[in-house]
Amino acid sequence: MDEIVSSIGRLNHIAIAVPDLKKSASFWEIALGAKTSNPMPLQEHGVTVVFIESPNSKVELLEPLGKNSPIKKFLEKNPNGGMHHICYEVINLKNASEKLELAGARILGDGKPKIGAHGNPVLFLHPADFAGTLIELEEIRK
Ligand code: CO
Repeated sequence: MDEIVSSIGRLNHIAIAVPDLKKSASFWEIALGAKTSNPMPLQEHGVTVVFIESPNSKVELLEPLGKNSPIKKFLEKNPNGGMHHICYEVINLKNASEKLELAGARILGDGKPKIGAHGNPVLFLHPADFAGTLIELEEIRK
């Protein structure tokens, strides 16, 4: 355990699940003066995404896409939307997952990285291990 050191980098994004992407994106624009991207359907992730850039990080608004969307259940429980996950950057996902396993943290799915919304490998960590917060780790390729 002594060898466990921090392996997280900057906060890459906060993802918020919303029932109506256009409505939320336009309110972010009108009320917060935010610059929002066009909606991007990500078929293989079962979501449509709007990116909202801010000087030090970004917010991703997620709307379900297709019948088996991974955020469908979340929106059933939170019909008005809500924070779905936060994403930290890591330099090396393999090192990070070894540390996580040593610490007893659970990696979701088969434990193997998948290619995420930005084309980089990602892992998701069990929310029960992190105060109810789903955490995504994204390996940043420079
Ligand atoms: Co994400």
